[in-house]
Amino acid sequence: MTTAARNQWYVAAYSAEVGRELLGRTICDEPIVFYRTESGEAVALADRCVHRRYPLSESRLDGDTIVCGYHGFTYDKSGTCVFVPGQKRVPRTARVPGYPLVEQDSFVWVWIGDRELADPARIPRAPWFADPAYTTVRGLEPLAARYELLVDNLMDLSHETYLHGGYIGTPEVANTPITTEVDEENEVIYVSRHMDDAECPSFYAESTGLRGRITRWQDIEYHPPCLYLLHSRIAPVGSVPEPDGSDPDAFHVEVGYAITPETAHSTHDFWFVARDFALDDQNVSDFLAKSNRTVVLQDVTALDILEQVIQREPDGYQELSINIDTGGLAARRFLKRMVERGTAVRT
Ligand code: FES
Ligand SMILES: [Fe+2]
Repeated sequence: MTTAARNQWYVAAYSAEVGRELLGRTICDEPIVFYRTESGEAVALADRCVHRRYPLSESRLDGDTIVCGYHGFTYDKSGTCVFVPGQKRVPRTARVPGYPLVEQDSFVWVWIGDRELADPARIPRAPWFADPAYTTVRGLEPLAARYELLVDNLMDLSHETYLHGGYIGTPEVANTPITTEVDEENEVIYVSRHMDDAECPSFYAESTGLRGRITRWQDIEYHPPCLYLLHSRIAPVGSVPEPDGSDPDAFHVEVGYAITPETAHSTHDFWFVARDFALDDQNVSDFLAKSNRTVVLQDVTALDILEQVIQREPDGYQELSINIDTGGLAARRFLKRMVERGTAVRT
């Protein structure tokens, strides 16, 4: 049985998903309903009517209030019940909990844990995905596997060569050693793989127009538990950034994931790809969206299988780890610590 860390911020939705329709989504085993008020404020409430538990996400909005679809209990945006049928007095305990919510960088973040500990300053930033200097494509896939499996998958990109051969995988990914850096204080893990003379996978050949051999850098920055960023630099062989940090010969692609536990055995797999070139080229957008989704679904298929393998295996099975797993092992250590810390604060 796995657990998600409490007292953490998680991406619950893309901002664009939250509107004047009620959206139900389970985050870390907690069913939550999302909507936007008439003035545009995003709201997150527990998705369970206090009366007979009917999901508020299956109900309807009336102005800024939710009218329960079963017997009509009506809640305002703070979760306070303002109307019950058949009597004037609304019971004092008639309220559903609200969730601290922050919209930032095109995402809706919710705090899972003790409300008073929620500090928006701790939400990691990902500015590219809401920056007009970049064009972003994105998606959300259901994953029938525990979130740790997706973390493992993303921390070790050598699997690209095998699982995504022909898409983003080339022999150099698996053959090039990585460097791993762990920032214990800020709880960030960096894994870098710089390929100075590599085959250009179709994913980048089609989108950038570069042909032949390329320089390909992959710099991972993982902010456990939820936000994973892959800074990807593609350039002609021999090209390096200028001393002042500018990088005119290179193409930059920011690949991000929000890894949000749904239940102990399922995950919301949010993926987003921002680029700083061909900004208005719809063909490039369509190509990147389609190819990246294909790659994500290759991972989803593999991880769904792994979840079944893990569920059927006897206790005490021992994995074998090698150099490529350094980043993934650091991530596991941080996640374990976060789970323990979250539980300690709660009890
Ligand atoms: S279950 Fe919501 S009003 Fe009865
Ligand atoms: Fe993958």
